[in-house]
Amino acid sequence: MIATTAEKKQGRLRAALDHASGDKRFKILEAHMKKFQYRQDALIEILHKAQELFGFLEDDLLLFVSYKLKLPPSRVYGVATFYHFFSLKPQGQHTCVVCLGTACYVKGADKILAAIEGHSKIKPGETTPDNRVSLLTARCIGACGIAPAVVYDGAVTPRQTATAAVGQIQKWEAA
Ligand code: FES
Repeated sequence: MIATTAEKKQGRLRAALDHASGDKRFKILEAHMKKFQYRQDALIEILHKAQELFGFLEDDLLLFVSYKLKLPPSRVYGVATFYHFFSLKPQGQHTCVVCLGTACYVKGADKILAAIEGHSKIKPGETTPDNRVSLLTARCIGACGIAPAVVYDGAVTPRQTATAAVGQIQKWEAA
């Protein structure tokens, strides 16, 4: 049977909510929405927080926000694409988000970032010319206990070092 558009939408939302249940960053984002009493006119502030946590505004993140604020997804996508300070899904095949929140920073996140920049010759917000890796930064992703944390393709990874991060990128390059 062919799924209708409405069914497809429901499926995507379910997947987004499932994803959200296992990721602490969604909890932090929800607490932020609560602070604004889930007000629809706080959408820009909430998207800022989402980008701060995740580094960029992925599809399921936008769906999550639209569901929680009871706004049509088109409105949330519209705002996210209108303002240049929001970045949607990076172009790279892989994404590496370095947390630069205080706990990670004092444990050497700056060195991790510098090592990746030096190795891949890109800055945060950029993608390597071969489109393989996009580099992003985020502020406290809610994993301070395992600082410094780096998120590789959505997987929050504990206690990273410059060598481990460059090693992960080399693995992607070799694949
Ligand atoms: S500062 Fe990096 S997880 Fe909190």
